[in-house]
Amino acid sequence: MSTLRRIDFHSHLMPGVDDGARDESLSAAALARFRAEGVGHVITTPHFLGSLTHMPDQLAARLAELDAGWAALQRVAGEGVVPPGEEPLVLSRGAEVMLDVPDPDLSDARLRLAGSAFVLVEFPGLQLPPLNAEYAIVALAQQGWRPVVAHPERYRNLDDGMSAIARFKEFGGLLQVNAGSLSGGYGQRAAVHAARLLAAGWVDYVSSDYHARGEPGVAAFVAQLEAMGAGEQAELLTVVNPARLLAGEDPLPVPPVRAGGESKQARPLWARLFGSR
Ligand SMILES: [Fe+2]
Repeated sequence: MSTLRRIDFHSHLMPGVDDGARDESLSAAALARFRAEGVGHVITTPHFLGSLTHMPDQLAARLAELDAGWAALQRVAGEGVVPPGEEPLVLSRGAEVMLDVPDPDLSDARLRLAGSAFVLVEFPGLQLPPLNAEYAIVALAQQGWRPVVAHPERYRNLDDGMSAIARFKEFGGLLQVNAGSLSGGYGQRAAVHAARLLAAGWVDYVSSDYHARGEPGVAAFVAQLEAMGAGEQAELLTVVNPARLLAGEDPLPVPPVRAGGESKQARPLWARLFGSR
């Protein structure tokens, strides 16, 4: 069986198109790091402003830029050395669509994850809209798309009850937490919220949001959950549910990651996040 079982659908690997990989050599290094972490399928998601879909000229220019970035990334992947006995990494494209307007037109398949009905979305400035944040999620779902909210744990104005996130779930939004969040890669607040989302059983997927710097962090996240006795959840979040997304299927429910389920070794992490024993 392939050792490259994991599927990652949030990264910035196309050279020179956003704040991710700056050039082809960094794209190549990033692909090698994914492989080293057991990721066999990468759907890369350059930043894309949703409002461009209402401005034909700018839209054409941005899509041309992304097409060129995609061609460069595929070339780099084709030149990469595949270790003996291993399959080549599978690459697909998507976008991380910024909801700077609540009603982007997602009819172009290049804006969706591997051309599926699923689309990765984020809100501007790491702030949720103060009122009716779910409006855009509802509107996208009504058009038949499956919005996946990127890194909900990172929003700075998330209340402790995470009520806005609850409404996303209620109205058909899916949740992708970043692999590095739980270990504090995005600060203590994001770590606490990631832990709460996992404890609530609300997280559908975990992907890297890898910007071609440092490590993707998927393997570390899996190891962290395994140490907490949550290997089943890690498998659902990084293998099973992303594979279902690629097959056009809804994610399976992910059982809550219980604070009590962790090993002695992992207890300090959970205790630190919740400020308990
Ligand atoms: Fe991202």
